[in-house]
Amino acid sequence: MKKSYFIIVSLLTMIMLTGCLNLSGEEGVSELRIAHNQTLDHPVHLSLVEFSRLVEENSNGNIKVKIFPNAQLGSEREVLELTQSGAVDIAKVSASALEGFEPDYSIFSLPYLFEDYEQFEQAMNNETITDHLYFKTEDIGIIGLTYYNAGVRNLYTKDREVTTVEDMKGLKVRVQPSQTSVGMINALGGLPTAMAYGEVYTALQAGVIDAAENNETALVGNNHGEVAKYYMYTGHQIVPDMLIMNANRFNNFSEEEKLIVQEAAKASTVYHEDVWAETIERQTDIAKNDMGVQFIEVDKQSFIDAVQPMHKKYAEAEKTKDIYHLIKENIGND
Ligand code: GCU
Repeated sequence: MKKSYFIIVSLLTMIMLTGCLNLSGEEGVSELRIAHNQTLDHPVHLSLVEFSRLVEENSNGNIKVKIFPNAQLGSEREVLELTQSGAVDIAKVSASALEGFEPDYSIFSLPYLFEDYEQFEQAMNNETITDHLYFKTEDIGIIGLTYYNAGVRNLYTKDREVTTVEDMKGLKVRVQPSQTSVGMINALGGLPTAMAYGEVYTALQAGVIDAAENNETALVGNNHGEVAKYYMYTGHQIVPDMLIMNANRFNNFSEEEKLIVQEAAKASTVYHEDVWAETIERQTDIAKNDMGVQFIEVDKQSFIDAVQPMHKKYAEAEKTKDIYHLIKENIGND
């Protein structure tokens, strides 16, 4: 965090200055700055490029978009704070990163909340659920624009196969900075370490952790497959990526401009689905054939059984019970 502090502060000073001066230099043209932590060939980046194209085109060039990829502006937690303050206008972060800002988002890190991807899609395309989530954070300075499919999260290790929950004993696993994800690894018998995504490769390499968990793009796009050779289909979480925006910036737009931004966001989510499917297929092949990663099926039921006490807790706790039942009812699974 410290090493990048100077760069981030300098970049932000630059961004804020150019923002005040109106970077485009054109009368009536506003610029939206987007931050995310993925590489240029990741589906998220490609979908944000599509979002930018639609916003610029549909506003006749009156709204321009500038994307800052590769965690240039900081970790997800950091860019969330920057979006709250308005130094960044839009950010793409995992729903897990939002847990520390709004407890409702913790629900997505609850393992096996969704039985499969179809249930996840049903929930994320249900406007009762999304309107609730997208505007719940307005009072803390953020609104949601859309979500992106971020795949199914599976466990991967440096050097050991995990086939049943018993094998999790003592395994040091990196999780996202989310209390629910920490609770998940504890419930499975492992030792959780929460850290920012950008630190995972080095932590694996140095042996600070034995394992991490994510979708398949982590292996190839982020090179984790160079150090982690076993990828287990635990399918424990389906966590959406969220596209969020500074609430003031959004509310200061005209009704027409708001619609342009919201519709471009939704269209980019549809675009993302195809890019995602193609990327997962291609990168799984690369991980298998070029990087020597083994893909392994597990006794999933043993994992599901181990986290049932968490479900009971989230279904009853004051902070989570409403969102838990809202989702479960709407996917016909309460
Ligand atoms: C996914 C997600 C990222 C997140 C990462 C993580 O890749 O798309 O937004 O940072 O998981 O595990 O931290």
